[in-house]
Amino acid sequence: METSKSARSGLALITGASSGIGRELALLAARHGYDLVVTGRSGALRDVAEECRRCGSDVWAVEADLAQSEGVENVWKTVMATNRPLDVAILNAGRSIGGSFLDTDLNDELDLIGLNVTSVVHLAKHVSRHMANQRQGKILITSSLSATLPTPYETVYGPSRAFVYMFAQSLRQELREHNVTVTALLPGATDTEFHHRAGMDNTAFGKGAAKNSRVEVARQGFAAMISGRDHVVGGNLKTKLVAIKHRFLPEPYKAVRHAEKARPRS
Ligand SMILES: NC(=O)c1ccc[n+]([C@@H]2O[C@H](COP(=O)([O-])OP(=O)(O)OC[C@H]3O[C@@H](n4cnc5c(N)ncnc54)[C@H](OP(=O)(O)O)[C@@H]3O)[C@@H](O)[C@H]2O)c1
Repeated sequence: METSKSARSGLALITGASSGIGRELALLAARHGYDLVVTGRSGALRDVAEECRRCGSDVWAVEADLAQSEGVENVWKTVMATNRPLDVAILNAGRSIGGSFLDTDLNDELDLIGLNVTSVVHLAKHVSRHMANQRQGKILITSSLSATLPTPYETVYGPSRAFVYMFAQSLRQELREHNVTVTALLPGATDTEFHHRAGMDNTAFGKGAAKNSRVEVARQGFAAMISGRDHVVGGNLKTKLVAIKHRFLPEPYKAVRHAEKARPRS
């Protein structure tokens, strides 16, 4: 679907657009007529940018490590250099680290917090002030179903997603009076490179064949953001029912269940 230049919807920023859910979100935004600033680190970002241009979008692609403060600043400088109001910000880049907390590398975990937590707050600061100033905007923050339970063997990841979930809900309330909406996307296990990159191939999660479709998860997140919902659980009916059950189950019980799926198999 190509939108004519005169009917463009505005400018959208999408982090973590080089693969997985973020790639699908970028393509959706392009098909909905947005011009884009897309970020990632790998060469795949250029291919995604090209696909989006084929939908008629103007695209600025920024290669930046968002675990580093300079990377976040470079992304924001690119947004500002477009000289356009930012209408949509999708803060999606993130990763996990699997394995026993006794064995995992501390610097790697601090880097994960830099990406999953600090970069979201950092970028949201710029985005919120900009959107509040123009009295309009939509923000989508990718959290996770992991925000709703303890996540042993991904012990730093789940809490990092719980942080951004409550951050999104808090920011939403503050920005309401400025006509800016904030939506959280909580995907269940989804068919991306995520578990492989987290070193979790040798776990029930990594081997799980029945993952949610990244196309469907992105579609649900994008639709929820456009309609201004506070959050959406991304995935199939089973995933949505799990999210409801998690409201009532005790944390120690959920921890045992998660450990069964995330613990490396010998
Ligand atoms: N897949 C799942 O099961 C699942 C479930 C719940 C929530 N999520 C969330 O969904 C989001 C997207 O993950 P995904 O499943 O689509 O995984 P993915 O395919 O691995 O994509 C992750 C994206 O984040 C980018 N990224 C990773 N580290 C980065 C860094 N240091 N600086 C800048 N960008 C970085 C990657 O860019 P490069 O590849 O270019 O480095 C890539 O574009 C994450 O926030 C994750 O927490 C995923």
